[in-house]
Amino acid sequence: MAKIIALSNQKGGVGKTTSTVNIGAGLARAGHKVVLIDLDPQINLTRGLRLDHSENNIYGALLGEYAFRAQPLQPNLAVVPGAPALSSFDKVKGDELDREYLLKDLLTPILDKCDFILLDCPPALGLITLNAYACADSLLIPLEAQLYATDGLEKVLELVSRVQRRLNPTLKIDGIFFTRFDGRKILRRETAEAIREKYPELVLRNVIRETIGLGEAPHLGQDIFSYAPNSSGATDYQQLIAEILTR
Ligand SMILES: Nc1ncnc2c1ncn2[C@@H]1O[C@H](COP(=O)(O)OP(=O)(O)OP(=O)(O)O)[C@@H](O)[C@H]1O
Ligand SMILES: [Mg+2]
Repeated sequence: MAKIIALSNQKGGVGKTTSTVNIGAGLARAGHKVVLIDLDPQINLTRGLRLDHSENNIYGALLGEYAFRAQPLQPNLAVVPGAPALSSFDKVKGDELDREYLLKDLLTPILDKCDFILLDCPPALGLITLNAYACADSLLIPLEAQLYATDGLEKVLELVSRVQRRLNPTLKIDGIFFTRFDGRKILRRETAEAIREKYPELVLRNVIRETIGLGEAPHLGQDIFSYAPNSSGATDYQQLIAEILTR
């Protein structure tokens, strides 16, 4: 039975997409069957994996225009591309009775065919994110240790408790983790420590350091394990994955 994990933070540019791709690729290399789904109208994940000319995407599938289909990318790794039109999902589906469960309906038939489904959420808490939270088993929240980082985090945690009360009582948080971490910057280190103290149960031990390779890999259509297997980016994601597997 697949575990569905949503990578979400209302704040933009914190490493949601980078983490979805690299956690997914790392899990696939470890032998798990993984499906990545791009739920962001910016389609960074889709573009970064060179799938932006695909005929099928998650938006058309959510609208019922065609069957849900994941495209094989690497051994054990398949992707459902996103589409810019996802930005009109709220408007198009907002009045439907089962609007929060459309993604869940698509994923239910594939749950016994894979081990992990990773959802790359947009930096917003609209209907598409609600669909992700409604079907997810858990959430991973990437966070940049910088001023105001907690503002976005608190909004996410608030939404999670609302979703737990109504749409998805079993939704849990697998962890908050720091990305683009630069331990040499005192302010970042102190901010990270403050967040760790505030949410001791939630913050993961491993951090993802700021490193050039993680920014470069998507420009070549690659994940960090194929682009720079010996880089600190690959090491950091490998260790983070090991920790996530214990949650
Ligand atoms: N650890 C890192 N080191 C260096 N660059 C990084 C790291 N993580 C992410 N980046 C770069 O930072 C930018 C933002 O990352 P990413 O797209 O993963 O964030 P996001 O949270 O998905 O953003 P959005 O909210 O816009 O969807 C990208 O250019 C990415 O390549
Ligand atoms: Mg993104």
